[in-house]
Amino acid sequence: MTLLDLDPDQLLSTTRAVRKRLDLDRPVPDDLIRECVAMALQAPSGSNVVTMRFVVVRDVAKRRAIGDVYRTVYEAYRASPGYPGNPVGDPERDARQAKVAASADFLGEHMGDAPVLVLGCTEGPNRAVAQAMIGNLLPGMWSFMLAARARGLGTAWTSMHVAREREVADILGIPYDTVAQAVLTPVAFTKGTDFKAAARPAPDEVIHWDAW
Ligand SMILES: Cc1cc2nc3c(=O)[nH]c(=O)nc-3n(C[C@H](O)[C@H](O)[C@H](O)COP(=O)(O)O)c2cc1C
Repeated sequence: MTLLDLDPDQLLSTTRAVRKRLDLDRPVPDDLIRECVAMALQAPSGSNVVTMRFVVVRDVAKRRAIGDVYRTVYEAYRASPGYPGNPVGDPERDARQAKVAASADFLGEHMGDAPVLVLGCTEGPNRAVAQAMIGNLLPGMWSFMLAARARGLGTAWTSMHVAREREVADILGIPYDTVAQAVLTPVAFTKGTDFKAAARPAPDEVIHWDAW
């Protein structure tokens, strides 16, 4: 697979949450997923013990079932005060967040239509340890998404399905007592590969030099 011509900073600044621009009709080869997981595995793990796990869901019935779970949780989120589409009276902020909300709504409806779903998990001797090991997944999960972007694939970080984690465990046969689910992402080729850097706070808004 030829990688997109992106330098490291371009890759880091243009890996967006892709929803409406996911090509839901184009299959994703297994080998591309393997390559992304290989990159994820280069991320750090505590004590150098790899506990990140990836459940790659291609089966259409399972994808749809997970999509139904996601839709149910998403609808509750949509009705909650934290929904980004709720206006706060700042026109610039409201317009920006309305776009995010419309994009998230689309995924709420179409999660199960993505050609592949990837579920990032951590495994441990028991559920408490598996959950505590989430830091062993997160760097790898983001590496997976960066590697996907480099290959023309789009992803969108989501985690709200964990409100119904057991249902997803049952759909996929995941041992609930020893495997904690953390991040669910659709994976699909993107419609076009041109993505822009996002508007974010200036560094000095979040840096505390030498002391808080
Ligand atoms: C911890 C976390 C949870 C998220 N959960 C969701 C989610 O449940 N559904 C969704 O559509 N996007 C979710 N996102 C994606 C964010 O909405 C997205 O990163 C944000 O709007 C900024 O968009 P950008 O990454 O394209 O710049 C999540 C992102 C993070 C880091």
